[in-house]
Amino acid sequence: MQTQQMVTENNIEVAAWSALEKSILYYKGRPVGTLAAVDETVDALNYDQCFIRDFVSSALLFLIKGRTDIVRNFLEVTLNLQTKKDQFNAYKAGRGLIPASFKVIFKDGKEYLEADFGEHAIARVTPVDSGFWWLILLRAYVVATKDYSLAYEPDFQEGIRLILELSLAMRFDMYPTLLVPDGACMIDRRMGIYGHPLEIQSLFYAGLRVGQELLICEGNEKLISAIDHRLAMLRAHIRKHYWIDLHRLNTIYHYKGEEYGKEAVNQFNIYIDSIPYSQLEKWLPKQGGYFAGNVGPSRLDTRFFALGNLMAVISDLASEEQSQAIMTLIEKRWTDLVADMPMKITFPALEDEEYRIVTGCDPKNIPWSYHNGGSWPVLMWMLAGACLKTNSMCIVERAITVAQARLCEDEWPEYYDGKTGRLIGKQARKYQTWSITGFLLAKELMRNPEQHLPLISFEPFSPKQVSRVCEFEINSFDV
Ligand code: GLC
Repeated sequence: MQTQQMVTENNIEVAAWSALEKSILYYKGRPVGTLAAVDETVDALNYDQCFIRDFVSSALLFLIKGRTDIVRNFLEVTLNLQTKKDQFNAYKAGRGLIPASFKVIFKDGKEYLEADFGEHAIARVTPVDSGFWWLILLRAYVVATKDYSLAYEPDFQEGIRLILELSLAMRFDMYPTLLVPDGACMIDRRMGIYGHPLEIQSLFYAGLRVGQELLICEGNEKLISAIDHRLAMLRAHIRKHYWIDLHRLNTIYHYKGEEYGKEAVNQFNIYIDSIPYSQLEKWLPKQGGYFAGNVGPSRLDTRFFALGNLMAVISDLASEEQSQAIMTLIEKRWTDLVADMPMKITFPALEDEEYRIVTGCDPKNIPWSYHNGGSWPVLMWMLAGACLKTNSMCIVERAITVAQARLCEDEWPEYYDGKTGRLIGKQARKYQTWSITGFLLAKELMRNPEQHLPLISFEPFSPKQVSRVCEFEINSFDV
């Protein structure tokens, strides 16, 4: 019986690897990425492109298997696509932006790469996350190959610098978090995540950590100082103001409004009636907790967002205690957050009037579908990473077992619908590459955590790094 199960598991992995192989994108004979999906039954739209965020899990798998060439090629071509000059045309990408996706086009018998910075994307959304994923991947490449020389090459140093300068630029804001429009990340449609969404903050934090590790000191002193300064403030801000557990809920429940001045306790002027506290009081387990989706003026978005929370654990943005509490929450609220397909992108879904107002009546984001409470297999690798980091092995083992029973048979859908994730997503692509790689990567991470977790994980801040924090006061980095 056990042997039969092992054969089945093995066959699923073989099928997954072969599907991944079919998604590889070639440019001038070199593998440079993977397509978002290889589903010939539906109109491709832009799913025939290589998305930066989608490629991350493919890349990590290639690194694990020693196929470092494809990752290096990807890093090089995307670096070439990065906007290098100041743009005075306000419809064009700003200096330092890495595109959301790219594709190979043929013109006059020649191959070219065409990037999309959001100027073609549905709703013209901006890919703020791309640069951070690119940095995370560059560091993973360095860790896997133990070869710093690529990152130290002048054009790579310039690429890192431009991404970070763009993120640390002067802005109209009072917080250390990054202010972005709606749909600037994996959730690339209107979902009420404009402002300071957790997903962007977790990736921003990881991106800053990469800058700290990979930027050569000489000539970058001011930027490095700004990075150190921002990292410390960002970490403290998220750990304090985004955190929700029963203890915090109690504090928030007794908030007073309209407080003025430095001594204000309710700094963001959260009106308690805007918080679904009676639901939260029931939903929050005694020991569990999580980071809110967004914090801004009179706003605390209490939805749970998986990517932001999992990446906060992996990147060390969450404290050790908070990381454990996040995993406890996932374990105790399994039916809401994982159920029949790991795992919910966000919980709970926006329903009724709230759905209509916040999403703009988006038919793809109806309640419990797609970004609005759908379940996304790609999140499995981040779940695995967070579980390994917190030593919560039983959670990831259970998640893999759940996914294994269906994913391959369902032909690797992009996402699932319904409160428990039992329905294949209404408009989901089949053979979605990051569903395949999310599953495979979770398995590989489990197989050899000591070797593979360091590719994505960050250690707690060392005192040496802390002592480097700014000698002079800079509120924002002046580019
Ligand atoms: C959808 C997802 C986005 C992903 C893209 C390609 O637009 O929301 O995160 O990158 O599909 O798979």
